[in-house]
Amino acid sequence: MNNRNIVAIVPAAGSGQRMQSTLPKQYIKIGQSTILEYTLQKLLSLPLISQIIVVISRDDRYFSTLSVANHPKITLTYGGDTRSDSVFAGLLLADDDSWALVHDAARPCVSHHDIEQLIKTVFAQNQGGILATKVTDTIKKSLDHSQLPLPQIAQTCDRQQLWAAATPQMFKVKLLKECIHKAKLQKIALTDEASAVEFCGGHPLLVECQRDNIKVTQKEDIPLAKLYLYEQGYIEI
Ligand code: CTP
Ligand code: MG
Repeated sequence: MNNRNIVAIVPAAGSGQRMQSTLPKQYIKIGQSTILEYTLQKLLSLPLISQIIVVISRDDRYFSTLSVANHPKITLTYGGDTRSDSVFAGLLLADDDSWALVHDAARPCVSHHDIEQLIKTVFAQNQGGILATKVTDTIKKSLDHSQLPLPQIAQTCDRQQLWAAATPQMFKVKLLKECIHKAKLQKIALTDEASAVEFCGGHPLLVECQRDNIKVTQKEDIPLAKLYLYEQGYIEI
């Protein structure tokens, strides 16, 4: 019987440069709770997830003040300079035979339904996969504008096969650890877990999710996250 133990890994060690706030964005409050608390609430309420490893920065002064700081399912560790360093640090605490469900602290609006859909699909296929949305915008590729005063269009991309990667991303702990390690040795920049597995020749599954699973990145994302959390019944406006 395959091991179906799921450990969530939540990278929360970033400083949120693009948010331009003194507080790291995962600690910004929306309504009564911080972004990280909503994210953890979503994961804590899924019985399929046995443990949550939260990866924080060495300088973090905020996690201990959260309502969930002493939750028995939560284990803390310290992250690194990049997101993949932080995920790797979390993976070091997980059992090799478990499944890792990596979810950004900055995605508080993910729905239970979408997380469950990912888990169901990955188990049914016995293959790692990620939540993603189909690209609906017309996507332009720019000329290399290092030499130009303004960006200019080089071409329009065919969006037929284009997806925007989200999280959670779910892989066997051992595989993910090995792939991130290999990619790092070759100095490959990784922006998500799937790209590490792709680097090792894998073809992770794409599981379509709702568009409310936004990554809170810039200031204008906050009111949007608030609206989605309200619609999901997490806050009152
Ligand atoms: N993250 C992390 N360790 C890092 C960098 C990022 O754990 N060294 C986490 C962030 O806390 C976030 C998730 O990875 O939950 C996604 O990264 P991103 O949205 O890029 O967050 P930041 O890196 O904090 O933001 P920015 O890139 O604007 O600085
Ligand atoms: Mg970042």
